[in-house]
Amino acid sequence: MLDAKLIIVEDEETLLNRLMTILKREIKEVEGFSSPKALLQSESYKNAHFILTDINMPEISGVELLKQVKKANQSIICIIASAFSDPQYFQEAIETKVDKFLIKPINTEELIAELKERFALKQEQDENKQLLEEYKAIIDDNNCVYKLSLDGTITYINEKFLTLCGYTKEEVLGQPYTIIGSKENQSAYESIWKNLLEKKSWSGVIAHEKKDGSTFYTQTNIYPLWDYQGKIKEVISIKTDITKIRQMQSELDTKERLSLMQSKMATMGEMLANIAHQWRQPLNTITMCSTSIQVSNEMNMLQIDDEFTHMINSINDAAEYMNQTITDFQNYFKPNKNKTCFYVENVFEKAYKLLSVQMTSNTIRLIKNIEKVQLCSYENELLQVLVNILKNALDQLHHINMQRYIFVDVFQDKEGCVLIKIKDNAGGIDNTIIEKIFDAYFTTKEADKGTGLGLHMSKDIVQKHLHGELNVKNIEFVYEHDACKGAEFTLKLKSIEEESP
Ligand SMILES: Nc1ncnc2c1ncn2[C@@H]1O[C@H](COP(=O)(O)OP(=O)(O)OP(=O)(O)O)[C@@H](O)[C@H]1O
Ligand SMILES: [Mg+2]
Repeated sequence: MLDAKLIIVEDEETLLNRLMTILKREIKEVEGFSSPKALLQSESYKNAHFILTDINMPEISGVELLKQVKKANQSIICIIASAFSDPQYFQEAIETKVDKFLIKPINTEELIAELKERFALKQEQDENKQLLEEYKAIIDDNNCVYKLSLDGTITYINEKFLTLCGYTKEEVLGQPYTIIGSKENQSAYESIWKNLLEKKSWSGVIAHEKKDGSTFYTQTNIYPLWDYQGKIKEVISIKTDITKIRQMQSELDTKERLSLMQSKMATMGEMLANIAHQWRQPLNTITMCSTSIQVSNEMNMLQIDDEFTHMINSINDAAEYMNQTITDFQNYFKPNKNKTCFYVENVFEKAYKLLSVQMTSNTIRLIKNIEKVQLCSYENELLQVLVNILKNALDQLHHINMQRYIFVDVFQDKEGCVLIKIKDNAGGIDNTIIEKIFDAYFTTKEADKGTGLGLHMSKDIVQKHLHGELNVKNIEFVYEHDACKGAEFTLKLKSIEEESP
């Protein structure tokens, strides 16, 4: 059963009744009228889906009736039934856009099939139309839309865009599109028209000028619209206001630039702090040596002997180390710094030299057990790490009143890694702070004696530049009948094959 309403207009009552009886079986609502006038008076046609009318009737012709019915109900499907002998009505029927022309006698089966097919098609069209309306409403709600004719005149503009521009429809329709564009767009306009001529869409950012002269920006998509021959008929432009987003983006960019600058400053500050830290030891050496030379001189005891030469060499070594430290820190920030192949033993020799003044003045026994192993890595950075660890041991040993030891063990493990162990007998690190000793600025020393950067920097260098590990633990052992307790630092290193980026 077709859920539709059909109107039949037929002046032959018997035929009308017969048709109604048959069609009622298939269609939910069927109304019959024996005269066109009666139908027009009833207004029943206004909500009907179909009208089937005879063409040749006394008062009003079928074609004329359909014209009037269509005025009030544009979507009604019109079917005309006629005897073969009425060709003069054909032309008129076609002009009235009659949907179907039937020849009498009517084949009701064919008619019903036709009605069903048309009704389904109509329903599909209505649904599509509704869907299109919904899409349009959604697009209109969320976007600015306007259409242009090919000469660039605005032919349509939606409310949202009008509100944004501050114009009324009357002020904009028929005007060139440049009325709402900004001069900034010149190059964009050129690329838009170029694309459209190549039948392509365009998307990009467009600047607009409001009626009050202020500027706003839209993310714009422009599409060509075609006619049935495939020629561009119009252009549609769909836009989203991105003024706020652009503003936020530019604020973010400024913030990002600022924070980049800040982080650069912080890195430079850190670098200065690190250099200052690494310089403290050689400066100490230089001061101690030069003071000693000065005192000898004042007491007229200055002799160019071995001790004097040793002190001059220490000053030179310290100055060289300071010089190298600056180069190293500069290299941290430069890629492709040079790695070299060296013996770990030699690096230790350099470290002892740098610390020799403290070593001798603190009467330290240095117990070395160093295998002859070679590393291909960054030598001076390893030197800095060794100096930091040895210097800490020296500082700590300064507090004990027994034989002071520093043990250095260097060997290669089965995997080919170089293991460097440095331990002392200064008593070890309190378990409550052992976790923190690699933190930046963690120190248990007085302000003028320690910055708390030594181990933090060392760990950083080992992990990031030497691709190794640095760990610590407390250790108890016996050496030549002396019971020892101290901290043991372990460095695990390997040759760096690839140049790190
Ligand atoms: N061999 C050690 N024995 C005992 N404690 C140690 C040893 N090495 C380091 N520490 C502890 O770790 C702390 C941090 O050492 P780190 O080298 O980072 O800083 P610092 O020596 O205090 O100052 P600086 O920055 O001048 O080196 C030291 O203050 C000390 O308490
Ligand atoms: Mg230290």
